[in-house]
Amino acid sequence: MSTLTSLVNHQIRLAARPVGLPTREGWSFTEESITEPQDGGVVVKTLSLSLDPAMRGWMNEGKSYIPPVGIGEVMRAGGVGRIIASKNTNFAVGDYVSGGLGVQEYLQVPVDQIKRSGLVKIDLSIGSVNQWLNVLGMPGMTGYFGLMDVGQPKEGETVVVSGAAGAVGQTVGQMAKIKGCRVVGIAGGKAKCDWVVNELGFDACIDYKASPTTAGVSSGSAVKEGLKEHCPKGVDVYFDNVGGEILDTVLTRINMKARIIICGAISQYNNTTAVQGPKNYLSLLVNRARMEGIVVFDYASRYHLAVAEMAGYLKDGRMKSKEDVVVGLKTFPETLINLFNGSNFGKLVLQVAED
Ligand SMILES: NC(=O)c1ccc[n+]([C@@H]2O[C@H](COP(=O)([O-])OP(=O)(O)OC[C@H]3O[C@@H](n4cnc5c(N)ncnc54)[C@H](OP(=O)(O)O)[C@@H]3O)[C@@H](O)[C@H]2O)c1
Repeated sequence: MSTLTSLVNHQIRLAARPVGLPTREGWSFTEESITEPQDGGVVVKTLSLSLDPAMRGWMNEGKSYIPPVGIGEVMRAGGVGRIIASKNTNFAVGDYVSGGLGVQEYLQVPVDQIKRSGLVKIDLSIGSVNQWLNVLGMPGMTGYFGLMDVGQPKEGETVVVSGAAGAVGQTVGQMAKIKGCRVVGIAGGKAKCDWVVNELGFDACIDYKASPTTAGVSSGSAVKEGLKEHCPKGVDVYFDNVGGEILDTVLTRINMKARIIICGAISQYNNTTAVQGPKNYLSLLVNRARMEGIVVFDYASRYHLAVAEMAGYLKDGRMKSKEDVVVGLKTFPETLINLFNGSNFGKLVLQVAED
């Protein structure tokens, strides 16, 4: 028996569609054996997986920008791994790759699935495994293209970003600073706010959790007051990662020709009632402003340009990255929830194996 065929692939599959927050009961834990690749195929060993808020959306039935994960299927996840067997001339054993690895220890890819799996070689000399899941990976690409293409920030403008200490938010804020903007973050808690100001160089950060609550409902006043204080000239670009009440509040402070990037709405993903739409959308009319959605995959042909630019900033110290690494495939159900209660601090990474 070869080493490869003695491997056991532990996997986590979607067992039921959640209502509200996902629970451990909604997953099944399976094992499969690994076989030698056929002509053109490869086997990847998962090192680390990217845990993303979008995973919650993929668990729902219904039309989106990407089909839902089917019941019984291995949960979809981007990740970084190493090629451990190859019959494909584009990949050699030992190459590091990123792609759609799934929540499992190994990905066996036949030749006809190579393109669909999105496997690409990555260069660990320009960024670590974790950075390839963060600034140099999907969240970084989202922040970069959402800000630069949709937001089009100009020097001296005020850029506000919610989810500021998260994966996308940290790229957005740092890119906006590099482009000469005034940058104000919105994040939950003092520690996150202090970090984006003191470590990442944001001009200010508003702790939205500092708003007084009545019967569990936030008054939202911290955001309202914070925007007044820290954006005295109004908001030119708002990069929205959270939706809901925070989006509504920012809408009351936008400038003429403001650009609002709808990147995500994490405050709404586990709703058991209808999504809360923006009540204050007429501010767009009054201010001749624009609100536009972004899906990162639309920019895939230009990822290499953003990677090259931001790898340069990481190297010369103009950008930093923070990842929150949790170890162990089996912790996936609980670790995923960290995204929705804000206990992740930085890009949430699930380390499946040491390199
Ligand atoms: N459109 C695209 O192509 C695309 C691609 C990637 C990501 N996204 C979206 O971008 C957003 C950020 O993703 P990410 O990967 O960078 O996640 P992240 O910010 O690293 O983690 C999620 C953060 O959301 C915040 N949060 C959770 N519940 C919240 C609530 N009710 N109200 C306000 N904030 C809340 C928490 O931070 P606090 O502690 O600060 O509350 C949490 O740490 C998500 O909405 C995601 O779906 C979109």
